[in-house]
Amino acid sequence: MTRDIAIDGPSGSGKSTVGMSVAQRLCMPFVDSGLLYRVFTAAYLAEYPDDRQIDHERLTKILKGVIVRSKEGSFLYEGGEVPLPLHDPRVDELVSPVSAVPDVRRAVNRELRRIAAVQDVVMVGRDIGTAVLPQAFLKIFIDAAPEVRARRRTIQLSHHGMLADYNAVLANLLTRDALDSTREDSPLLCDSTYIRLDNSCDGSEAIVNRIIEEYRRRIAHAV
Ligand code: DC
Repeated sequence: MTRDIAIDGPSGSGKSTVGMSVAQRLCMPFVDSGLLYRVFTAAYLAEYPDDRQIDHERLTKILKGVIVRSKEGSFLYEGGEVPLPLHDPRVDELVSPVSAVPDVRRAVNRELRRIAAVQDVVMVGRDIGTAVLPQAFLKIFIDAAPEVRARRRTIQLSHHGMLADYNAVLANLLTRDALDSTREDSPLLCDSTYIRLDNSCDGSEAIVNRIIEEYRRRIAHAV
């Protein structure tokens, strides 16, 4: 029986911070699925820096490149780091349209399932519990108020050395929320198989503890 933990939620909800902490405490590998969409998007922009919209023929060419996971856990495209930072605002702008393309989702999901086939993982994203690992042992949906998410993202960008305007970040988050929740192929949604947690308050320790408690409770009852 696999004991994967799927954590889904919108951008900036803090799911990666929570997921990483849960993984660390349970000694499980952590997989951030959004990074794979970002790798394809950054590889696309490295090849076609002037594109402001996705050209499907060009994207198909980029999809033929192979993504692998390094020993350190980062993702490499065609054996090397992509030259554009994965959280660059230009990647933010194009990543939702890229991730709405079914061929992209198929390529990413293949890689994610390959990773989860050999070990139990804590995997975060938008559709992990609905499409990638629908049989996950525990499914968590993490949400937070848009203003809180935009503030976190602005701080995160400045930590990465990128100047970010709060209003522009908020607008980008809201646009991506709309695209990610309304696309046809595996949209972001929280169904009744999830436990929904609100992460609007600062400090996610309580949420991490809640997830670990629930995970242990289920293991105790599963035996
Ligand atoms: O989590 P993130 O912001 O790094 O994700 C970047 C984009 O990738 C996001 O706008 C939607 C997409 N994504 C997705 O469609 N499905 C996933 N499982 C993870 C991310």
